[in-house]
Amino acid sequence: MSLRTVEWKDNSVIMIDQTKLPNSLEYVTYNDYNQVADAIRTLVVRGAPAIGVSGAFGLALAALQSDAKEKNQLIQDLEKAKKILFETRPTAINLSWGLEKIMKIAEQGKTVSEIRDTVIVKAKEMAEEDININKRMGKNGAELFQDNDTIMTHCNAGALATVAYGTALGVIRATNESGKNIKVIATETRPVQQGSRLTAFELKHDGIDVSLIPDTAVGYTMANDLVNGVVVGADRILQTGHVFNKIGTYQVATMAKRHNIPFYVAAPLSTFDLENKPEDVIIEQRKASEVTGIGDKRTAPDGIDVINPAFDITPPELISGIITENGIAKPPFEQSIKELFQAKK
Ligand code: MRU
Repeated sequence: MSLRTVEWKDNSVIMIDQTKLPNSLEYVTYNDYNQVADAIRTLVVRGAPAIGVSGAFGLALAALQSDAKEKNQLIQDLEKAKKILFETRPTAINLSWGLEKIMKIAEQGKTVSEIRDTVIVKAKEMAEEDININKRMGKNGAELFQDNDTIMTHCNAGALATVAYGTALGVIRATNESGKNIKVIATETRPVQQGSRLTAFELKHDGIDVSLIPDTAVGYTMANDLVNGVVVGADRILQTGHVFNKIGTYQVATMAKRHNIPFYVAAPLSTFDLENKPEDVIIEQRKASEVTGIGDKRTAPDGIDVINPAFDITPPELISGIITENGIAKPPFEQSIKELFQAKK
């Protein structure tokens, strides 16, 4: 079984503290939605589907924390908590997806105690559903890779970025489980090193063959025929097929195109944003200290200006396919994404 990143137990949220990995596997327990908001902000929990479910659990905590005696007051308290949770990270659409789902359930309830019960049930259901979706996605994606392939991945789109199993790493797990012998190349993913700290840790933990490379070795490994395919996750995918994902994804995709290596994205339907255009989406800018140092060690001069976007946009012409729980969308994406959503109904 892969690692379980977030779960609801005894009216609390339990999470792996990802800031401590790979040095120690520690769990934190939260009873206050403000703690969950902080955890999302500071990357204790990260990865689009994991923060979507964490947001939902955060609202479930808010429902328990509220001392409202009637429905209207409880909804107001939930709206306040939703705003705080929503503002933690702007790019991954799964966060607003998770929050909206819980608000919808809350609004349907008649009494305070009914709302408390139903939001907890719904948030737990969303967590279980995330695992099932990842397994379906994994099976769909496994057919794209052959025996003895080496697959590159960027950042961490694994069990640690979801509730369990993973999206891109779910595809890698399912390929492995189907009996194909595969190897993985994980990019380090500066500045926060989700590749070396999390992907390398997670795959090693599960016994999957993984090699770590610096981000700057993507071109080298591709030019030397060391890579057969790429699979990454996504924080938001637009109707046009534009993919928002961890900074550096665009470079990996460009290099894959240059070397005729297929580049796939794996994401659940909850990661799609069929409303917005690329210019409407906020790219999170993170603090300079992530770039001016590694861990606690300073590696840049004092006072240096820094540009530190957390995500970039990979345009559809660089993408060979988008793997979802409902099948694989192939270019042209406008049409194939529409079909995926029709298949959902
Ligand atoms: O900043 P992070 O670590 O939250 O960024 C995560 C990513 O970019 C992942 O690739 C994405 O959320 C997909 S996770 C299944």
